[in-house]
Amino acid sequence: MAANNQSEIPSKIIAKDQSDLIAWYLANRRELPWRKDKNPYRIWISEVMLQQTTVTAVIPFYEKFMSRFPSLESLASAQENEVLEYWAGLGYYSRARNLHKSAIRLAVSGFHQTAAELLELPGFGPYTSRAVSSLAFGEHVGVLDGNVIRVLSRRYGLKLNWWNSKEKDILQKISDALAQTLQNSEVNQGMMEMGATVCTPKKPLCLMCPWKNRCIALKENLIEQLPAPKPRAEFEIWQCNFQPHIKKGQIYLTPFEGPFLKNTLFPESQVEKLKKKPKTYDFKHGVTKYDLFISISKPATKTPKGGQWVNLSEIKKSNPTSLMTKILKFAENSATIKE
Ligand code: ADE
Repeated sequence: MAANNQSEIPSKIIAKDQSDLIAWYLANRRELPWRKDKNPYRIWISEVMLQQTTVTAVIPFYEKFMSRFPSLESLASAQENEVLEYWAGLGYYSRARNLHKSAIRLAVSGFHQTAAELLELPGFGPYTSRAVSSLAFGEHVGVLDGNVIRVLSRRYGLKLNWWNSKEKDILQKISDALAQTLQNSEVNQGMMEMGATVCTPKKPLCLMCPWKNRCIALKENLIEQLPAPKPRAEFEIWQCNFQPHIKKGQIYLTPFEGPFLKNTLFPESQVEKLKKKPKTYDFKHGVTKYDLFISISKPATKTPKGGQWVNLSEIKKSNPTSLMTKILKFAENSATIKE
């Protein structure tokens, strides 16, 4: 479908790359739990989990999540706390919250079939929307995540500042051009699979690559240089003081307010951004680009407000994060905090 090829790559080359990639994928694809059928719910959950970690690490979480929430309806009718509990260990809890919110909306409306419609839902960015609509419904849209950015930058020899949206769009157009085939699901999954297993960041297995004869980076010895490395985000230093109210086997939790772990239930706290690391703190904790310096102290008031009492034995249901585990461990060892 040459008419849809808006990339700069000639249609003949796109056609050849498509057919080599499809053949390679069909011969080399891994059997993965979300590849058994084209169920959009199962594909969606896998794509959200795979944004945070590798296929191997995701599989046990995925199987456990699916046995508890086997359908869109079962996820939609669950309590948010339980969804978070099943997400424990994957990190980025806002993703689990968005998953639940979108499940509630999709259970009412039916699963949206186009990337444009999916994009309107909480937690559906361009990648997830395109992955779900193309893998589950065959929409002719290309995907672009870190793996695909690497594969395409190398194959076509493109040194782009891909973190900048205009330059990323050049890669998106190439991915879309490659998706103009009846087997577009195989094209998209083929690029993901190649990025994960062959065209790896370090020491790629170029001999196994279906595009090896035409790869510009390989020909011009640019594999190590492509894609261009994204400048590292500046780390931010934050001080967090938690004042856990603990009484009769219960702890008082309120929604956390800060640029990280937003809305997760935590003990009462004050947070503040600092220019440099504080002189005193109890322990350090990292969340994405935030370096948190945590201190734990006795609550100032006897009667907390705006939150809820939670049984300590069920804390993981309300807050499964590793930060909460550390706070509790610290509080348990600190006699001054308990009432
Ligand atoms: N990475 C992201 N999505 C993937 C998928 N569907 N299969 C394998 N790796 C992936």
